[in-house]
Amino acid sequence: MQITAAVCRSNGAPLSIESLQLEDPREDEVLVRVVATGICHTDVAMRDSPVRVPKPIVLGHEGAGIVERTGSAVRKVKPGDHVVMSFSSCGHCPSCYQGDAAYCFENNLYNFSGQRKDGTTALADGKGGLHSHFFGQSSFATYAVCTERNVVPVRADVPIELLGPLGCGIQTGAGAVINALKVYPGSSIGIFGTGSVGLAAVMAARLSGASTIIAVDTQQQRLEMAALLGATHIINAARENTFAVVGSIAATGMNFALDTSGNLAGIRQAVEHLAPRGTCGLINSAKGGDISLNILQLMSGGRVVRGVHQGDSVPEVFIPQLIELYAQGRFPFDKLVKFYELGEINEAIADMEAGKAIKPVVTMGSPSLQ
Ligand SMILES: NC(=O)c1ccc[n+]([C@@H]2O[C@H](COP(=O)([O-])OP(=O)(O)OC[C@H]3O[C@@H](n4cnc5c(N)ncnc54)[C@H](O)[C@@H]3O)[C@@H](O)[C@H]2O)c1
Ligand SMILES: [Zn+2]
Ligand SMILES: [Zn+2]
Repeated sequence: MQITAAVCRSNGAPLSIESLQLEDPREDEVLVRVVATGICHTDVAMRDSPVRVPKPIVLGHEGAGIVERTGSAVRKVKPGDHVVMSFSSCGHCPSCYQGDAAYCFENNLYNFSGQRKDGTTALADGKGGLHSHFFGQSSFATYAVCTERNVVPVRADVPIELLGPLGCGIQTGAGAVINALKVYPGSSIGIFGTGSVGLAAVMAARLSGASTIIAVDTQQQRLEMAALLGATHIINAARENTFAVVGSIAATGMNFALDTSGNLAGIRQAVEHLAPRGTCGLINSAKGGDISLNILQLMSGGRVVRGVHQGDSVPEVFIPQLIELYAQGRFPFDKLVKFYELGEINEAIADMEAGKAIKPVVTMGSPSLQ
């Protein structure tokens, strides 16, 4: 079928809106009419990286929409179902068998190779093939083919255009707090970086009953949003001595720390300010940076430093839970969202980069216009 998509043709260049051909879904695939797709920093990192994904490619990995058609083997969803597309995985490695698909042994192949496992792609532009299946979806497009493994059915009484970011950024921040760190009532947590991931973490920390929620950023308006969403303390790292303030708030150390900023010096200090048996979760890869940590401090206090991917989420379970909390008014992630049309995607990315939009979401418009 003919679709409209934002194509990434070369490193760092603006995405171009093009008409493409999309293959029919294969037996284990699902054709989704995309209603809206969130933009995540990982899309921008892939646009700019000369090595991480092959190009030309259609990026986009926070898609939400309505099932149009399913392959013959698909049982999870049917045409008309509202769905969110999340990360993909193999389904038959030790992590997938244990329900931990965020740590799939073939994460790169299923999310970053720009093709199916058999090497084929679902997209073409009339002159040749184009890479597809980014995060098993390539959803900066009016239609996307995903797989039965990464499609998540969701309830139809909540606006579908809002739900795409639950497939990556929002489940990552909330899941890091709820699933990975297992923040508990009365505990303290420092959240470093209050973009979409960090603010989802702030909301989740409040839901988890943390009594001290310290939000740190360099952008004042984001800190004010953090305070609105449940932070008990805010620290502007551009103006204050962050860890002197952290030390005065949590004198015996923080039970938890979560870094979404990728600031290496900050990560090191966050670990130093953990209470005994405290855990620091790392979400931002800091462009592959390294840090050194004091082993005696880790060992004698039983402190843990760990990476967290996709908030340790099982999307089929966690995303509906977050939607129910949203519907109850207890997880207002809509406050982070700013809508753009697909044709404005480069402006949306620029606004995200400039800190003007926390979670941009591009809408695909009415199908009758395509
Ligand atoms: N691990 C995963 O599964 C996963 C999933 C989604 C996103 N990510 C990554 O998570 C990161 C955060 O995503 P986001 O959408 O929230 O990004 P974002 O850019 O909106 O948020 C990062 C925040 O960190 C703040 N910051 C930067 N330097 C700082 C410093 N020195 N001190 C304090 N704050 C500082 C920025 O002002 C910004 O608000 C990105 O790198 C993204 O690629 C990881
Ligand atoms: Zn993402
Ligand atoms: Zn796997």
